[in-house]
Amino acid sequence: MNIYIMENAQEIGKAVGKLFVDAINKKPDITLGLATGASPIPTYKYIAEEYKKGNVSLKDVKTYNLDEYVNLPKEDKNSYYSFMHAELFDHTDIKEENVHFLNGNAENIEAECENYDDMLDEAKVDIQLLGIGRNGHIGFNEPSIRFSKGSFKVKLTQSTISANSKYFDENPMPTHALTMGVGSIMKAQKIVLIATGIDKADAISAMISGDVTPVCPASILQFHHDVDVYIDKAAASLL
Ligand code: F6R
Repeated sequence: MNIYIMENAQEIGKAVGKLFVDAINKKPDITLGLATGASPIPTYKYIAEEYKKGNVSLKDVKTYNLDEYVNLPKEDKNSYYSFMHAELFDHTDIKEENVHFLNGNAENIEAECENYDDMLDEAKVDIQLLGIGRNGHIGFNEPSIRFSKGSFKVKLTQSTISANSKYFDENPMPTHALTMGVGSIMKAQKIVLIATGIDKADAISAMISGDVTPVCPASILQFHHDVDVYIDKAAASLL
């Protein structure tokens, strides 16, 4: 793992944003695996600004998001579909047919997950962007007794519900989500993980220096050949 300790979230956003812009300019039809949450927002802002300046185009970029809530309408402001459009897609020339999400409202969840995994296998993710949960989750792969392979429906843990319920001011936060599996995440050519703040210090330390165990799903990244970890000093404080 390459560990980059930076001053703050803005500096990380610029560094990771530049990494993505350079990668897109090098391979305009790149396939990206994308994350939601607070961590990637400065990165998405940087990419959108570079698009506005005419320094990058996303017209041939393909994206696959990591996860989506179950039983939350796609149009809800808290769906990850809405998040991605508000934070990145609506500010660029990416084509709607090139953006992909797990459908948390699918009638047949099993078929939906299988279909997403088939698409991922065919598309082959070049760069996967990740955040990390306070409990070490990646995507919504919560601590467990085994590492997941493909996409599946997960019951969110109390830790995740308390971290994310602040966004749900009108309706209660969904208790389940669909997520890409750890096996699929590990298939990406390159992985870039962002974490900031003292709340993430335990998870970052377990991910980098702990045993590889499904109790800390992110620890599996120790087995990937190309992982860049961008953290601030607070998240790095237990290393
Ligand atoms: C989001 C996702 C999650 C988040 C993680 C950190 O698509 O997959 O694993 O990356 O919960 O969230 P933030 O960045 O809000 O602290």
